[in-house]
Amino acid sequence: MGKEKLAIIGSGNWGSAIARIAGNNVPRFSEEFDQKISVWVYEEEFEGKKLTEIINTEHENKKYLPGVKLPENVVAIPDIGEAVKGATALVFVMPHQFLGRVIDQLSGKVQKGAKAISLIKGVDVKGADIHIFADVISDKLGVSCSALSGANIAPEVARDQFSETTIGYRSKAEGEMWKRLFETPSFRVSLVEDVAGVSLCGALKNIVAVAAGLVEGLGWGNNSQAAIMRIGLLEMHEFCIEFFEGVKAETFLMESSGVADVITSCLGGRNKRVAVAFVKEKKSFDELEQSMLNGQKLQGIHTAKEVHNFLEARNRVDAYPLFNNVYKVCWEDHPVEKLTEGI
Ligand SMILES: NC(=O)c1ccc[n+]([C@@H]2O[C@H](COP(=O)([O-])OP(=O)(O)OC[C@H]3O[C@@H](n4cnc5c(N)ncnc54)[C@H](O)[C@@H]3O)[C@@H](O)[C@H]2O)c1
Repeated sequence: MGKEKLAIIGSGNWGSAIARIAGNNVPRFSEEFDQKISVWVYEEEFEGKKLTEIINTEHENKKYLPGVKLPENVVAIPDIGEAVKGATALVFVMPHQFLGRVIDQLSGKVQKGAKAISLIKGVDVKGADIHIFADVISDKLGVSCSALSGANIAPEVARDQFSETTIGYRSKAEGEMWKRLFETPSFRVSLVEDVAGVSLCGALKNIVAVAAGLVEGLGWGNNSQAAIMRIGLLEMHEFCIEFFEGVKAETFLMESSGVADVITSCLGGRNKRVAVAFVKEKKSFDELEQSMLNGQKLQGIHTAKEVHNFLEARNRVDAYPLFNNVYKVCWEDHPVEKLTEGI
């Protein structure tokens, strides 16, 4: 059997952090993995140079993960077809709003029998239908797609600060392969047979993180934060039980993908930070994304809208009052002081 050849599709803050881990790990498994790791980079100019050129010469993604060196076997490629050529293991890691176009570009270019893993946090909603992105990737590209999610704020992982993550696998063998690729002494990976649970936790917790930011913006204290985390986790779990089959309670309660990711996202992370500023500075989310995130994308407000549209199509909005109130504050000028009304 040939070696597994890795392509990472996406090179933002998390994409770069995960490329660093995989690049450092493959030499430990040189019989199993090709040593070159291709990373598809959405090409853009940064400080007068192409981002791919900066990554390939200075071994640092200066725009999205400044101050962290990438191993030299991580190679940035602007052409997506070239990046996935011959790849047997595909890592999808980009803001979810770009995935549709990327999948279209990949059509017919992915090697038969390739495996994939989605690190994307979000859900795909079309009217009364909802899908996790691991399923979208599986269906559209004909690959088996697992999911990785956890309490993983990228700059902390990139600096080897102790963290855990959860992989929801399609088959145990695939889960173990992804674990070899990503686990380090400071980045612990646990495996669960629950792709939907891992994916949904990662998507829905961003709505809860926005709620936590709104609460902090209001100047409310720790009790309020804890209540938002508890209620948020409960709505996340109820949503999964109601609309998806086979999701396990342990994925929420015992894994990094669940309760730990809710906590870290409500303590820090971009969704929280921008929501605090939304209340304090009274600027739009668009303006704040531009001024605060340096090209990184907000997820929570979009997931709140997508989940709201789905619940409306299913006539179930009232069953998820926290999700609904976050949506209304972010998108309908609902007074933030009424965030907890009805929850
Ligand atoms: N950053 C984190 O701490 C973190 C942690 C865990 C999971 N995630 C998730 O990982 C996924 C990727 O996040 P990230 O932090 O790597 O991204 P990011 O928000 O840092 O970066 C934006 C990325 O989008 C790319 N981009 C911009 N315009 C584009 C376009 N038109 N088409 C395609 N790509 C375009 C940029 O090149 C860049 O790679 C998201 O779903 C996020 O929720 C992020």
